[in-house]
Amino acid sequence: RSDRTFTMIKPDAVANGYIGAILAKINKGGFRIAAMKYTQITKDQAMKFYEVHKNRPFYNELTDFMSSGPIVAAILEKENAVADFRTLIGATNPADAAEGTIRKEFAESMSNNAVHGSDSNENAAIEGAFYFSDMEII
Ligand code: CMP
Repeated sequence: RSDRTFTMIKPDAVANGYIGAILAKINKGGFRIAAMKYTQITKDQAMKFYEVHKNRPFYNELTDFMSSGPIVAAILEKENAVADFRTLIGATNPADAAEGTIRKEFAESMSNNAVHGSDSNENAAIEGAFYFSDMEII
């Protein structure tokens, strides 16, 4: 099978009504949805998910934000999924995001930046397993 990455449509983009538009861009980008769910995580779950950032100054803000409302979590498949998805979403800060990227179009700010994308194959597997059991990955 193809490589996998993990994504979340973050609370800002869900609240702004962008789920459909972002999924359309993901489909147009050639990614196959292997798993998907609409859910809301607790502050404790967000702290666990973002544990790698626990010493960063934005950790508290980030985990408050990610637990503040519903999200869409998904596992995506494509050749070179991790790198190609990061290209599709654009830079972390939407002010630096290239034209045509998801963050350029839909993100509000550095913290409310519409979507998550895994930064490595290893983290894609860890992050996907945080949300999905093997049975839920199609
Ligand atoms: P993401 O790459 O999905 O996962 C880590 C998140 O931390 C990142 O998106 C941003 O939303 C957030 N982040 C990174 N840097 C900052 C920052 N300087 N201030 C606030 N949030 C940040």
